[in-house]
Amino acid sequence: MPHTSSINQETKYKLNNGLEIPVAGFGLYLIPAEETEERVYQALKAGYRHIDSAVGYRNQKQAAAGIKKFSKETGTPRESIWFTTKLTGQQQGLEETKQALKDVASDVKESIGYVDLILLHSPKTSSQKRLEAWKVLEEAVLNPESSPLTIKSIGVSNFGKAHLVQLLAKAKVKPVLNQLELHPWLPRVELREYLKKHEILAEAYSPLTQGAKLEDPELLSLEAESGLPKAQLLLRWSYLQGFVVLVKTNNPKRVVSNLEVLPKKNDDWKISLDDKIWKALDKPESNDVITWGHNDPTLFPID
Ligand SMILES: NC(=O)c1ccc[n+]([C@@H]2O[C@H](COP(=O)([O-])OP(=O)(O)OC[C@H]3O[C@@H](n4cnc5c(N)ncnc54)[C@H](OP(=O)(O)O)[C@@H]3O)[C@@H](O)[C@H]2O)c1
Repeated sequence: MPHTSSINQETKYKLNNGLEIPVAGFGLYLIPAEETEERVYQALKAGYRHIDSAVGYRNQKQAAAGIKKFSKETGTPRESIWFTTKLTGQQQGLEETKQALKDVASDVKESIGYVDLILLHSPKTSSQKRLEAWKVLEEAVLNPESSPLTIKSIGVSNFGKAHLVQLLAKAKVKPVLNQLELHPWLPRVELREYLKKHEILAEAYSPLTQGAKLEDPELLSLEAESGLPKAQLLLRWSYLQGFVVLVKTNNPKRVVSNLEVLPKKNDDWKISLDDKIWKALDKPESNDVITWGHNDPTLFPID
C-alpha cells in the first residue's frame, strides 16, 4: 500500500489562531544577502508562497524586497504570500525584543507592510529572557496599535517539551508552530505527539539534512530501487508526515524541482511513497541531530 496524501503546491494548513500557512516553504539560510532578492523572486515565480528568513540570516530585508518585486510585477496580492522571520537569542528580553521589533520593522515594513510569523529562533537563553520575549510578542499580537510592526502570528523554533511546558504555563497566546530539525534520522516522535496535543504545528527544517545524509548507502539504494531522486524521497517523506516543509536551495533549477515534488493544484497525480520505502525510511528511535553543532537545542536545560 503506498502512503499517499492529497496535498499540492497550494495546500495550506490551519494554525491554532485560525490563519493558514502554505505547506511548501522556501528557506533562506546561507543564501547570501546580495542574491536573496532574486532567489526569493524566482521561488515565488516557481510557485512557492512561503518564505522563511531570520534576523540571523542577514537577508530578511532583501527577502522582503523580493516579495515586493514579485507582488508588484505579477499583481499577486501581498496577502497570498507568507513571510516568516525569527529573532535571535540576543533579541530576547523585555527591552531587547521591543527593540528587535523596531529593527525588523525598519527592514521589512516599507516593502511588505507586515510579518506573517515571528519566531523565537532558539530556547538557548534563559527562562526569564524567553518569557519576557514572549510577552512582548504577545502584546504585539493582542494590541497591534501598540507595536511598531504588525505581526499576524507568533511561534517558536527549536523548543523542547520543557521549554514549551514553561511557556504554555504563562502564555496568553499559544505559539502557532514549532520549527524543528526533522527528517528520517531525527523524527522526534515524542515531541511531535506533545505538539499535536497542544495544537502546535510541526514545521520541518533541514528536510534534506543540509546534504549531510545524501550519500547515506541506504538512501542511495532506495534511490536506485525507486527511480526517484534521493532529495525527492526525503521531501516526500517530510510532506507525508504532515509537516510544513522548509527547503533551501541557491540553485535556480532546484528551486523549481524541489517544489515539483508536490503536484500542481489540478494535477491528476498524488504525492506518495511506496510502503517498502516508507518502512525503510522509518527510524522512530533515531536521534541524529545535524544542525546547531550536533547539540540538540530542544534539550537545552531549563535554569
Ligand atoms: N530554525 C532553525 O534553527 C533552522 C535551522 C536550519 C534551517 N532552518 C530553515 O530551514 C531551511 C531549510 O533547511 P537547511 O537550509 O538547513 O537545509 P536543507 O534544506 O535540508 O538542505 C539544503 C542543502 O541541500 C542542498 N539541496 C537543495 N536541494 C537539493 C536537491 N534537490 N538535491 C540535492 N541537494 C539539494 C542545498 O544546496 P544548493 O543550495 O546548492 O542547492 C543545501 O546545501 C533553511 O534555509 C531555513 O530557512 C531553520
